[in-house]
Amino acid sequence: MKRVLLVCNSQSGQLTRCAEAFLEPLKRAGAEVDVVVPQPKTAYPWPWGFDNFLKVFPDCVLGLAPEMNAATLTAPHAKYDLVVVAYQVWYLAPALPIVGWLKSEAANVLNDTPVIALCACRNMWQRAFVQVKALVAAKGGRIIDHVVREDSGPAWATFWTTPRWVVKGDKVGSTGLFPPAGVSDEDIATLGVPGGKVATALMAERLGQSVLQGSEAPINRLFVIPELVGRFFFGVWAPLIAPSTGRVRWLLSRVFFVSLCSSLPLMVPAAVVALFIRLFARTWFQGKVDEATA
Ligand SMILES: Cc1cc2nc3c(=O)[nH]c(=O)nc-3n(C[C@H](O)[C@H](O)[C@H](O)COP(=O)(O)O)c2cc1C
Repeated sequence: MKRVLLVCNSQSGQLTRCAEAFLEPLKRAGAEVDVVVPQPKTAYPWPWGFDNFLKVFPDCVLGLAPEMNAATLTAPHAKYDLVVVAYQVWYLAPALPIVGWLKSEAANVLNDTPVIALCACRNMWQRAFVQVKALVAAKGGRIIDHVVREDSGPAWATFWTTPRWVVKGDKVGSTGLFPPAGVSDEDIATLGVPGGKVATALMAERLGQSVLQGSEAPINRLFVIPELVGRFFFGVWAPLIAPSTGRVRWLLSRVFFVSLCSSLPLMVPAAVVALFIRLFARTWFQGKVDEATA
């Protein structure tokens, strides 16, 4: 019998539903699926509220995982045929509960094991995946495929609907002007297709290499430069805010937030600059695309 481990912590339940849809064909094929839900000692709030949403920013960018509840980390078996590492993106970085698990001793279960990374987020996951790849590799795991589902609304709408959802818990909104936040039921259901391909490969013992050939995590080239610029900008602010306390931290966090919002109108000229980089620094640009590919 084939053994599969799912590692997944989801606040709203969205990521868990994605993982279940993906794993359903594997269960039908007869695989035994164990689930680990890594929990921080102090749970992150849901919905976040504005203050908490800002407060977690430096920890996300600096990869400072919370203290984890040890009882929630260890898988029932020492060895699996496949591990599915499910993650969300927080501030262009992997969400902290999965970082906490990946940095823990329990993640040694990844050693010399095929790993599929499964992500559900708004749409900016490229830099976070580079970090997930490094964390999995540090434990000796081999990422063979990456499966992503992005929030189903258009990007301009999710700029508003995703933060509203995570801050207020309001997925739909009262105006009816925007589509609901998050990954739609239809998009979640499509995960059965890659799940089916992986199930076939698992049963045929063909998980030594990629099964999905990049088809489930196509790189949106329009986001390559904005994500790199965002990471740079976050990387300047996070170490400034992290050591501060009290009113100074309150103030710095808000200055960061205002500067983040006021930089949004710069996106159009930034896109023109990005186009020039893509035209005249092709090798460097392709390197960044390759980095974010499984
Ligand atoms: C603090 C925070 C920061 C987030 N930052 C991003 C981001 O940078 N990029 C992105 O695509 N989604 C971002 N999201 C959305 C999440 O990736 C995810 O879609 C949402 O939190 C729902 O996940 P869940 O399965 O835990 O409920 C963020 C969410 C939170 C709570």
